[in-house]
Amino acid sequence: MDLQQLLRDLGDHAEGKIKQAQSLAELEAFQLHFLGRKGELALLMKKVAEVSKEERPIIGALANEVKGLIERHLEAAHEQLGSAEINAQLVEEQEDITEPGIRPPEGHIHVINQAIEEITDIFERAGFSRTRQPEVDWDWYAFEALNMPKEHPARDEWETFFMDAPISSKWGKMLLTPHATSGTARTLAQAAPRLKKEGGSIRSINIAKTYRRQIDITHVPMFHQFDGVYVNKQVSVTHLLGILDYFVKEFFGQDRRTRLRPFHFRFTEPSFEIDISCGVCNGSGKINGEKCRTCKDGWLELGGAGMLHPNVLEAANIDSKTYSALAFGWGVERTYMMKEGLQLDDMRLLYKNDLRFLKQF
Ligand code: DAH
Repeated sequence: MDLQQLLRDLGDHAEGKIKQAQSLAELEAFQLHFLGRKGELALLMKKVAEVSKEERPIIGALANEVKGLIERHLEAAHEQLGSAEINAQLVEEQEDITEPGIRPPEGHIHVINQAIEEITDIFERAGFSRTRQPEVDWDWYAFEALNMPKEHPARDEWETFFMDAPISSKWGKMLLTPHATSGTARTLAQAAPRLKKEGGSIRSINIAKTYRRQIDITHVPMFHQFDGVYVNKQVSVTHLLGILDYFVKEFFGQDRRTRLRPFHFRFTEPSFEIDISCGVCNGSGKINGEKCRTCKDGWLELGGAGMLHPNVLEAANIDSKTYSALAFGWGVERTYMMKEGLQLDDMRLLYKNDLRFLKQF
């Protein structure tokens, strides 16, 4: 057969095949099949030896032409199939941005921190500033400066954790603050020079972690207290009742009433326990003629308060003849439970990090 014809036929045949190719892989196979070292063109070229010398250059030129033709077809097909494949992949991997996303789990602040924020807010509206004081402190601020001398039995009530640290001759032992009143003692001492120089008043609320060696269903060894103090000239019990009543109405509800009951603390004189009217029986102590089960005779015990003892003011270097001060303080956990009317079976639940419990608040 005529070699020139065979070459032309090869060109036509390859063109047809390449145009039908469906994938880049198929094209690659054609490339080898037609143009590879052992491919069809190479096979035909072996026949050059059989043609006359005059015809050889013509065959050579024709072979190059056919090779070039096949290459161009391969290239064109490659371009077309390549972009088609990329498009298909893009379509497949396309994200539907209108689809609703997956919401990541969202937490909320701990119930006790919520209570702390609320308490802070209420007192800030009455002109108190939240102070921050160390929660590892000296015996001086926790007891001595609060009119509780070393051997005084009242100190046993505080069940204090003492640090294994050198004792200071000036400040005594180091401890974990057993009540937030120690922070108040520090605030008083810090503000004393300002009072002396510029006069004015002190209105501080210390909300802090407190620690006592007690753990059972109504006690945890770490809990929170808030402790407020208002120092000015001629502060009286009336002011004390006023600020407590304001807090109780803001925190528990406008219909709640407050009363002071005489009590004893070393750092206040006079001292009181604060009661609030029971929200369940509305302070009457009775529900449909039956005794209310939430309270004792219409009142619930909230916390301690009083007028700071002159010795406490003097220990902070504040002149107790010029100034007087009201003070109050009690636990955040208990206050929050009272607000919600929660009878928490076990106070320890608050700090067990059990989400089933915490998510309820
Ligand atoms: N610090 C006391 C306690 O932990 C409570 C207390 C009573 C605080 C009377 C006060 C106060 O500021 O005036 O039991």
